[in-house]
Amino acid sequence: MCGIVGYNGTKKAVDILLDGLSKLEYRGYDSAGIAIQDKEIEIFKAKGKLVNLKEKVENKNLLGTCGIGHTRWATHGEPNEINAHPHVSNDGNVTLVHNGIIENYQELTQKLERHNYKLYSETDTEVLTNIIDYYYKKYKLGPIDAINRTMVRVRGSYAIAVMFKEYPDEIWVARKDSPMIIGINEDGTYLASDVPAILKYTKNVYYIDNLEAACLKKDKVTFYDLNGDEIKKELKEIKWDIRAAEKEGYEHFMIKEINEQPDVVKKTINSLINENKIDLSKTGLTSEIINQFKEIYIVACGSAYHVGVCAKYVIEELARIPVVVDIASEFRYRKPILNKDGLVIIISQSGETADSLAALREAKEEGLKTLAIVNVVGSSIAREADYVLYTLAGPEIAVATTKAFSTQLVASYSIAIEFAKVKNTIDNETYVSLINELKVIPDKIDEILKNSTSNIQKIASKFSHIHDAFYIGRCLDYAISLEGSLKLKEISYIHSEAYAAGELKHGTISLIEDETLVIGIATQDDVFEKTISNLVEVKSRGAYVIAITPSDKDVSKVANDIITIPTTNKYFYPSLTVIPLQLISYYITIAKGLDVDKPRNLAKSVTVE
Ligand code: AGP
Repeated sequence: MCGIVGYNGTKKAVDILLDGLSKLEYRGYDSAGIAIQDKEIEIFKAKGKLVNLKEKVENKNLLGTCGIGHTRWATHGEPNEINAHPHVSNDGNVTLVHNGIIENYQELTQKLERHNYKLYSETDTEVLTNIIDYYYKKYKLGPIDAINRTMVRVRGSYAIAVMFKEYPDEIWVARKDSPMIIGINEDGTYLASDVPAILKYTKNVYYIDNLEAACLKKDKVTFYDLNGDEIKKELKEIKWDIRAAEKEGYEHFMIKEINEQPDVVKKTINSLINENKIDLSKTGLTSEIINQFKEIYIVACGSAYHVGVCAKYVIEELARIPVVVDIASEFRYRKPILNKDGLVIIISQSGETADSLAALREAKEEGLKTLAIVNVVGSSIAREADYVLYTLAGPEIAVATTKAFSTQLVASYSIAIEFAKVKNTIDNETYVSLINELKVIPDKIDEILKNSTSNIQKIASKFSHIHDAFYIGRCLDYAISLEGSLKLKEISYIHSEAYAAGELKHGTISLIEDETLVIGIATQDDVFEKTISNLVEVKSRGAYVIAITPSDKDVSKVANDIITIPTTNKYFYPSLTVIPLQLISYYITIAKGLDVDKPRNLAKSVTVE
């Protein structure tokens, strides 16, 4: 899951490329490189974070106005300077950056070796570069022919930007499954893996589809299909604000995005309510269509999957429709038994997660309707789903999702309420009271951020030394504890497990000893007492208990630290409990002095399986 950028225009490319890469570093940050075309193509690469590359080129006085760049998340070949991109064909004819994975690169390597190509790196990308060169030389029909023949020949996912020695001042691009956006303004043409990299320069973009290619000249972009025929593309305007891709005085993107939640959750709720009724019309779903669905399958990865687990509890209880929640990488291979009258809901912040995209295609192949809940307009999952519900979190830069997660939660509540209304499983009074409570969730999130952040920081900073932690709860509290546990793991590197509180005594409680950190979530009335007794069980074995509970509940007997949250409707508590869970993870990670925005080994959008 790398980040690629490109610029061809009238300005110095090096500044625009490095700035763009800094906005894409959340996609991968183990090495980086750029290629600048002036009189000839010059390449600079560096291992580690982008700052190493910046130091390498800062005194080079690179004046070229055409170039491509890359920030890497290694898949083939360890993170080092040789394996870093851009890669060059044997005789320097082709220079290329790539995001994705070439699955049949070994077979192609043998083909190249049969034609006396020598490879200097361990990467699939260098193979791809030479395969383009091979077709370019064999058929002598220019860049588009070489690229199209390559697209037919390679298997895998890719977004590539290519410079040909014999075609100066041109950047050629192509994609299949990996994201790419192309921008244009009076200073030139731009390409990037994601919007934040070019938002500073233009909001006018083209969306290039799978198995399409394009040529970026200084003043125009020409698109081609796989036959090499020119195709027309509509220029679209991006609605996002550039400030969203900046830290705006916050120390980290994660804490900035945590504090943006009241605003973006309100925006998302308002986009789904009209005249105090849930309005899903923008998604394309109507009451007639909703009524056809007899079963729901929610499929996603990571935190998005955890939204699905929360949604299952709410949809089943409110709308009385069976909900199956699946991890996308399992769903796509486990041959699920799917009810043809089922709706498959794919949840994804980026809209580009490979396993979730494949699960979407799998569901469509099985003849089921698909609804995508995504945050990135124009992303692959959004473009391929039958119905799309856009969350309005804006660009999310920190690798660990927070604000997008919270917007996905309220989106799933809205679906549950509307399905319940259409299926007549709730009366109008309940319908109206749920909507009224939903509308005040942003204020309650804001209340927690304002009143509890410093207390949570104090509590969390006591645990920078721990190696293990447990999150427990029942029902919806168990569902959200999954997210709390992942948040801690992914940024603090502390091992933690989320457990259905009632399940502990069937084995895992043997791990509880003196000072073991147990974070207990207790919001659900009908299982509150049960959860308290589970907290008593761990406390009596020496655990240090942090309890997250509504202000109207008393957990003082079992908790060492208590984090109270405002009361709300039982279905909406995940939106409130997740805030302290995010802050606990953030402040423990800060206390450990770790890079909270770019945790090791992770990337924001997992575009390979
Ligand atoms: C969450 O903090 C992680 N970044 C990761 O688990 C993420 O939720 C997962 O990769 C799914 O990403 P998506 O929502 O973009 O599909």
